[in-house]
Amino acid sequence: MELHHISTAPWHSPPSAPASRSISLAFQATTANSDADLIHTPAQPKETPANKKKRTRKNHTMDLPQLTSTPARHSASCASLSLPLLSLLHAVLPQPPSLTLSIGAGPGLLEALLLKHHPSRACANPASLYGIEVAAAPPVNRFLPEANAVVVGGTWAVAREVADAEALVFVYPRQVGLVRTYLDSGARVRVVVWIGPRCDVSEFLGPLGAWGVEDVALMDWEGGKVVENGEVVLVFHRREGGVLR
Ligand SMILES: C[S@@+](CC[C@H](N)C(=O)[O-])C[C@H]1O[C@@H](n2cnc3c(N)ncnc32)[C@H](O)[C@@H]1O
Repeated sequence: MELHHISTAPWHSPPSAPASRSISLAFQATTANSDADLIHTPAQPKETPANKKKRTRKNHTMDLPQLTSTPARHSASCASLSLPLLSLLHAVLPQPPSLTLSIGAGPGLLEALLLKHHPSRACANPASLYGIEVAAAPPVNRFLPEANAVVVGGTWAVAREVADAEALVFVYPRQVGLVRTYLDSGARVRVVVWIGPRCDVSEFLGPLGAWGVEDVALMDWEGGKVVENGEVVLVFHRREGGVLR
């Protein structure tokens, strides 16, 4: 399947209409649960000095909440967050300079907390962690430094950084097809972390299980629960000699 890659530069101009349409249709065809999201191509907002300043001011870590060893809800994150969760992610994700992509990072709270608590991952040049989000006005990202944020043109788009990625993180992804597409595209990916509600596991287990071998249950880490009841953290390692779907 041909993939469409978007520049890392925020507010990159969208592709020409025919190209983007053919890609969205190709992606849709491989997706079991296609929905209107897949063909949504948001208008690309224009960067102005005023909104750039506002965005930059917001991108600092002083606003990050304090985590404890008990998973807790935060308005800017679908997943409950805890210190054991950050430790687990730090342990299973490859160390810098290996590249990790968090696909659909939303406001980037979990990712920013990971950088804060494990500063060895906060290297900026080159970055070893990118939160990938779709373009929107105002930007969806609120917590990640700009150096760690990549914007793609729509829900159908795959970040070109996947070519260098060695790990992928999906936190409450909505589309199984997007997970499958990233697994197919990431030739160097060796670790995948999926975090979501228990009721979604069966839907995502197909492509994840075909791609890799699951770690033993990881609900506790360093003596603490990583996420709340009803949520699951899955860690997969690429299956040696396996066939990618
Ligand atoms: C349910 S939200 C989860 C956000 C965040 N991970 C969290 O846990 O709070 C799913 C996110 O995926 C984003 N998304 C959808 N398609 C995407 C794509 N192709 N590339 C990057 N992000 C995408 C949406 O914009 C949305 O912010």
